[in-house]
Amino acid sequence: MKDRPVNEGTVVLGIETSCDETAAACVMGGSDVLSSVVSSQVDLHAQYGGVVPEIASRAHLELLTPVVARSLVEAGIDDARVDAVAATVGPGLIGALLVGVSAAKALALVWDVPFVAVNHMEAHLYAAFLEDPHLELPLVVLLVSGGHTMLVSMEGHGRYRLLGQSLDDAAGEAFDKVARFLGLGYPGGPAIDRAAMDGDPTAIAFPRAMLDDGLDFSFSGLKTAVVNHVRAHPDVATADVAASFQQAVVDVLVAKARRAAREAGARALALGGGVAANSVLRESFLDACAVDGLHGFLPNRTMCTDNAAMIAAVGWYRLRDHGPTPLTQGADPNLRLPLV
Ligand code: KG4
Ligand code: ZN
Repeated sequence: MKDRPVNEGTVVLGIETSCDETAAACVMGGSDVLSSVVSSQVDLHAQYGGVVPEIASRAHLELLTPVVARSLVEAGIDDARVDAVAATVGPGLIGALLVGVSAAKALALVWDVPFVAVNHMEAHLYAAFLEDPHLELPLVVLLVSGGHTMLVSMEGHGRYRLLGQSLDDAAGEAFDKVARFLGLGYPGGPAIDRAAMDGDPTAIAFPRAMLDDGLDFSFSGLKTAVVNHVRAHPDVATADVAASFQQAVVDVLVAKARRAAREAGARALALGGGVAANSVLRESFLDACAVDGLHGFLPNRTMCTDNAAMIAAVGWYRLRDHGPTPLTQGADPNLRLPLV
């Protein structure tokens, strides 16, 4: 294998296929995004109201080669300039993960460069670093995706402390389920975000579960409260339900994030994960940071949802600090965030 030093000029090709986005990106030095290509399968899954794992795997298989090729073209480089190939090995859908992991290992072998295994959750934490590599540590990240809701204190590269997490549904899952119930379609988060713009967030007083109680979250009761309210008031305006539901989620997320920053002694607070694209969450997060004197960091929306630039970024740090991953490494659908 080519044994090149890992430095600011090291180019990592990242590959992401853990769910329903097929993505490839070229990132130099851990933060300089040369290209980031995301091919969404949303239209393929929309008719089923959610991601169908078998359809996702087959689509990744078809899309990955052209997506990787485009990421090289858009970066203006050829494969000889790629110093390492990083891929998401988990958590995610096993069939979907296997497509990206196998492709990354094959490319690494053929190009004679290191392969680097990346944890998808860790990659979401790095979205903030992609845009500001000089963020102060400890950094508390509110990671809100379709599968996870976590408050993590990032104390160093690869050093994470879990401060709180959802005890039941993830925030994104709650958005998706409520959107489906309201007939707003899939994916639910953006649909509720849009519908809520015409609604009154104070119209319905939905519960703020565990608001004053520790740093863990619970969203399943809120989802049930929405269902019960709509059944009891069939004429209620959908926009008001969407806005009131969204406000309840945002209030809890923001309250716990600022408490977590206080308890961890952090000076900076960042958002990550797909739900971090939510417009009301973004606004109220920044307002809270300003009040608390925290450096609030909001990654660009395209870096919040699944992408491969965040995979390549983590790949660079892991390669620098831990070296290449053996090609015997497989995919792990239940991979956990490595904690200290
Ligand atoms: O991080 P992500 O792209 O994939 C996972 O790793 O899960 O997150 C997807 C989740 C979905 O639940 C989606 O509904 C939610 O992020 N999401 C949003 C918004 N955009 C995406 N939730 C609320 N508001 C949005 N604008
Ligand atoms: Zn994700």
